Amino acid sequence: MLIGARKGSPLILGVGDNEYILASDAAAIVEHTTRAVYLSDNEMVAVTPDGFHTKTLDNITVTKDLSQIEFSLEQIELDGFPHHMLKEIFEQPKALSTCMGGRIDKRNGKIVLGGIANHLREFTLARHLVLTACGTAFHASLVGEFLFERLARISTETEYASEFRYRNPIIEDGTVVIAVSQSGETADTLAAVEEAKERGATVLGIVNAVGSSIARATDAGVYLHVGPEVGVASTKAFTAQLAVLSMLAIEMGRRRLMSTAEAACYIDELSKIPDKISRILEQSDRIKEIAAANIDRNNWLFLGRGFNYPVALEGALKLKEISYIHAEGLPAAEMKHGPIALINDGMPAVFIATAGPQYDKIMGNIAEVRARGGKIIVVATEGDESIKQHADQFIAIPDAPEILQPMLTVVPLQLLAYHAAVLRGHDVDKPRNLAKSVTVE
Ligand code: G6P
Repeated sequence: MLIGARKGSPLILGVGDNEYILASDAAAIVEHTTRAVYLSDNEMVAVTPDGFHTKTLDNITVTKDLSQIEFSLEQIELDGFPHHMLKEIFEQPKALSTCMGGRIDKRNGKIVLGGIANHLREFTLARHLVLTACGTAFHASLVGEFLFERLARISTETEYASEFRYRNPIIEDGTVVIAVSQSGETADTLAAVEEAKERGATVLGIVNAVGSSIARATDAGVYLHVGPEVGVASTKAFTAQLAVLSMLAIEMGRRRLMSTAEAACYIDELSKIPDKISRILEQSDRIKEIAAANIDRNNWLFLGRGFNYPVALEGALKLKEISYIHAEGLPAAEMKHGPIALINDGMPAVFIATAGPQYDKIMGNIAEVRARGGKIIVVATEGDESIKQHADQFIAIPDAPEILQPMLTVVPLQLLAYHAAVLRGHDVDKPRNLAKSVTVE
């Protein structure tokens, strides 16, 4: 007899032919079977040659459904790529098409999100939104905050799940909490969900892993549907989180104040994002050259404004987590309140300076860094010839409405981090000290 018990961290029982497997993640068992039982917290399973029995830790029998693991072994194989992270970066056009497929109705200017259909009214009438997440999902949530405020005019705050859970948060009538998580198992995010539920909030989940703890704990939600993400550094889940948040904000905006024509315009632009990402991916070799030219530098800055400020945070995080190069991401104007003191000769500063209302402002920030000897690497809009004279290195991305740009501007930063880590000889898929799912506090 083999007994497995779940308390806190995930536990799955794989049910094969004449075999059972206990694991914490479906990816570990899919090679053997696609049938699984997802245990809930405080449940246990006893496996014997005759079958399995599920009970609570208090010894009360519970009947569990057999679930089908929705991804295949091929999806977690490398498919010719040297690393999962690179494969997942290149998968983004397809992943986003799958994520948005069937959900955007271009002809009628509509977004259909089945997972929240029963909660649309609460969501539409919400007076306050709280987005909560950790790591990369937190950066996606920050973009979400800007999206909900801009498109649906609803006050929104974004909070680290680890802070939210302990802060005695104010949840009033009409507060909707949205938890964003790739794995659906992050302990702090799960605890934030429980805290929000206890205080009476409607809680939605934006999760990738089907059947995960957060997906099950939330009242409703939207799956990313981008297949398993294996690389520890999150890439395709980030852009898909942005796609889902954009769809939600457009749909909510349309129900509250946006004209159908305006919604149709955003939906049309959303549908073009996967092809635009493909065009950015074609520049991978050029981005590798930029990484190589700066590979001996140990301190980097990433700067952006508006919707691209969270992308600057994400660019810095990507570089830190896999290449172990120290990097800071900042809203560009904050630079002058301290970090500008760091700039010395040749220090790489990556600016996201795409077309938008803050373009002139960020040009001013570029001039400030340049005057102090910083090396200017610019992510700018295709065809912006004039910016080249202010930049040492230049990466062009296709034009897109400001609110959708993060799905594009982050891609060169993912590639920059990837190439820098490989050039420094690190194991990109297994960065030191990091875990894909942080299921402990
Ligand atoms: C870990 C991973 C990150 C991820 C974060 C949140 O730190 O290394 O890539 O962004 O957890 O994970 P989640 O699964 O909740 O999105």
